[in-house]
Amino acid sequence: MTAAQMTAQWVSKRCGPLKGVLRAPGDKSISHRALILGALAHGVTHVEGLLEGEDVKRTAQAMAAFGAGVERLGEGHWRIAGKGGFAEPADVIDCGNAGTGVRLIMGAAAGFDLVATFTGDASLRGRPMNRVLKPLGEMGASWVCRAGGRLPLTLKGGNLARVAYRLPEPSAQVKSAILLAGLHADGGVEVIEPQATRDHTERMLRAFGAQVDVAEDGAGRRIVLPAGQSLTGTRVRVPGDPSSAAFALVAALITPGSVVTVEGMLLNPLRIGLLETLGDMGADLSVTNLREEGGESVADITARYSALTGVEVPPERAPSMIDEYPILAVAAAFAEGPTTMRGIGEMRVKESDRIALMAAGLSACGVTVEEGPDSLTVVGSVRGNHPVAGGALVTTHGDHRIAMSHLILGLAADRPVAVDEPGMIATSFPGFLDLMRSLGADIEAS
Ligand code: S3P
Repeated sequence: MTAAQMTAQWVSKRCGPLKGVLRAPGDKSISHRALILGALAHGVTHVEGLLEGEDVKRTAQAMAAFGAGVERLGEGHWRIAGKGGFAEPADVIDCGNAGTGVRLIMGAAAGFDLVATFTGDASLRGRPMNRVLKPLGEMGASWVCRAGGRLPLTLKGGNLARVAYRLPEPSAQVKSAILLAGLHADGGVEVIEPQATRDHTERMLRAFGAQVDVAEDGAGRRIVLPAGQSLTGTRVRVPGDPSSAAFALVAALITPGSVVTVEGMLLNPLRIGLLETLGDMGADLSVTNLREEGGESVADITARYSALTGVEVPPERAPSMIDEYPILAVAAAFAEGPTTMRGIGEMRVKESDRIALMAAGLSACGVTVEEGPDSLTVVGSVRGNHPVAGGALVTTHGDHRIAMSHLILGLAADRPVAVDEPGMIATSFPGFLDLMRSLGADIEAS
């Protein structure tokens, strides 16, 4: 991406049918975890298909700062030489925009007798860290930070004790931070989650040789990491990110005549809430070539332009599609009737307040929306002959998913849609512009 593309606005315009086959970039959640577990392990880990977005690159730099050997061998192919633990870093760890990066790394670092200072960009410095600090504090870690548990923050780890912690909110980041700290806690650790959240940490810990016991517990799970685990380097193949693939799939569903296939997409049951919801809305989605790769289900997904109908999204589905509500809201704008999303309060503490920004962006584009404290309703009326107007410059507050969602909306709206801070898209989806253009999308840097 050129410097001009990084800083300019990007504008998307109504285009002809989108057609083509693409591979989604590597899954962001799995990429962070592969680097962190590789650094914690004894021996060498090879990661293939790593997402080379800005967030994950920050985690790679952090792992080097904690003493691991980190080397890029080729596109998406990284070699991590783990030292079986973290050494004290010589400088501040800057995690950029990455909430997953900083929360998981703080958990991992808490297990060791070291002091480390963490910071991030303006968005990350505004996000709550208390949710991770509370359980780490109960285990024996200590810290100083800005008011409200905000970064920058200096953490002191080591001498951790066992905790049995019930998560107050469904958060895979918090669960993972506790499990990673638990690797070096006296007595292991137990996490009870009220609703099941993405389980990549549990799966990957096992792939690195650890024992993780998981039992269903109502709608949630009880996860036990017994004491005395040690990790051994391995090979990790990162599947395509469903949270990134979502943009191309929804673009095909709302742009007349389109047929788009995403190959090698992760189909972890705790990440497929968007596909289920789009299916409920009448989307023409087909799943082929379903297979297992590195302990995860993977498949090729084809989306065809569809007449969508608004739905009530079951609130219990939220953890399995929490990052996909912005693009679902775009699909809903092109559906017939209201789509109601409830139980989505966690969206307000992401890279931005995503409920507020989607409500503002969609209404600036002429879509009727209703915002609640933890809900969003989008009223589509395309068959009632009320097309989405577009014609707005959308303020993204530097949030990559807000930017991509509105660019997709512009592909099927009456008038062009512009977004500011498009450079932030590179945090999770560095190839977004080229990939969308290769399908026939009209998106320009202006
Ligand atoms: C992630 C968990 C989710 C998600 C984030 C990635 C992870 O956050 O929004 O993008 O990799 O564990 P929460 O744990 O805060 O819900």
